[in-house]
Amino acid sequence: MRIVDLITKKQHGEALTTEEIDFMIQGFTAGDIPDYQMSAMAMAIYFKDMNDQERSDLTMSIVRSGETIDLSAIHGIKVDKHSTGGVGDTTTLVLAPLVASLGVPIAKMSGRGLGHTGGTIDKLEAIPGFHVELTEEKFIELVNKNKVAVVGQSGNLTPADKKLYALRDVTGTVDSIPLIASSIMSKKIASGADAIVLDVKTGAGAFMKTTEDARELAHAMVKIGKMVGRDTMAVISDMSQPLGFAIGNALEIKEAIDTLNGHGPADLVDLCLTLGSQMVHLAGVGSDLSEARALLEENLTNGKALEKFKVFAASQGGDISVIENPELLPQAAYETEVLADRDGKLSQIVADGLGVAAMMLGAGRATKDSEIDLAVGLVLHKKVGDAVKKGDPLLTIHSNQLEIPEVEEKIWESLTISEEADPIPLIHEVIV
Ligand code: URA
Ligand code: CA
Repeated sequence: MRIVDLITKKQHGEALTTEEIDFMIQGFTAGDIPDYQMSAMAMAIYFKDMNDQERSDLTMSIVRSGETIDLSAIHGIKVDKHSTGGVGDTTTLVLAPLVASLGVPIAKMSGRGLGHTGGTIDKLEAIPGFHVELTEEKFIELVNKNKVAVVGQSGNLTPADKKLYALRDVTGTVDSIPLIASSIMSKKIASGADAIVLDVKTGAGAFMKTTEDARELAHAMVKIGKMVGRDTMAVISDMSQPLGFAIGNALEIKEAIDTLNGHGPADLVDLCLTLGSQMVHLAGVGSDLSEARALLEENLTNGKALEKFKVFAASQGGDISVIENPELLPQAAYETEVLADRDGKLSQIVADGLGVAAMMLGAGRATKDSEIDLAVGLVLHKKVGDAVKKGDPLLTIHSNQLEIPEVEEKIWESLTISEEADPIPLIHEVIV
């Protein structure tokens, strides 16, 4: 087999076989296929697409390119949730204990944040003492005992994806449905998921800017999951404005605690219940999605989800007094309110604009090696469609510097007040 023949074949729009795809991925991972040939192949795929069989073959070949996590020692069906990334996305912090409170095992591998999107591990580290450096044995033991644990990414998972993504990034081939779908699905499968729930975000703060693109990606990933024996469901949710009210690490922990206490922001609660009911149902609990949702709602109000959060945090070294008294979480030195400069309706809260503003305060990393400030961030008081009067607080800036003119400017660029504005629907589609 020669890679040049496979490039030509794809260039002519023909489908590659299972063996051809594996030859290409394993050869590229081993360094036998050079970057320039793999770049040409990525461009051919970008223009000619892949059929469903090729997409699932590509996914499983990327899984085989490196180590995989074996979660078979954990009892039950391991369902993993993946979000394509957003601003102030507090769902994992709520879903992990909430879903586990129904006895469904949550064995979560998570990452740190980069750029305007936050990472679950950074947020959890706002709980003093909390750590994610667990051995595989300890991780499995905790999930069996408490039904929930979160571990940092380790091991050489999907090296083909890392290498291929680096090439795509510099050859204009990131934006290809078969390449994105196989990249995401291979990582979930390599980290041991039996079943997968996907939160595909759409809008200004999201990777997929339009609902049509998000829909195409979501359907592609659900199809791959089903073809490779991992039952998959998906939700397409809005990320044109931030999710919930809080953006920032300790601020989002507080938001998660409020939500687990039954007092969460309406949009965050709705998304958690929608994604959570898919997770619970895929794990075999609840006869259908609406029964699963009712079980979750019950545990948000009867204290069981919050209790599970305490057990989970304590098991990984966290000081759970902050869960009872969130004012003990890291606090910023200054709070500054941003006030409405006219009457009207809030018509735009640009998610990535506020994500960047939070990053400028120190809540996120501008580069991989930046230090983050766990205390700082933004808390919205209004959402798109809400009426405002001149002088009403729109959001509060939590900062550790007194003079932050650039951040204030970024925030003002991201907010629009108009005569009229309708609320933005949160959930665009549910794919089961
Ligand atoms: N996120 C991923 O994990 N992979 C892609 O290809 C694009 C976004
Ligand atoms: Ca939030």
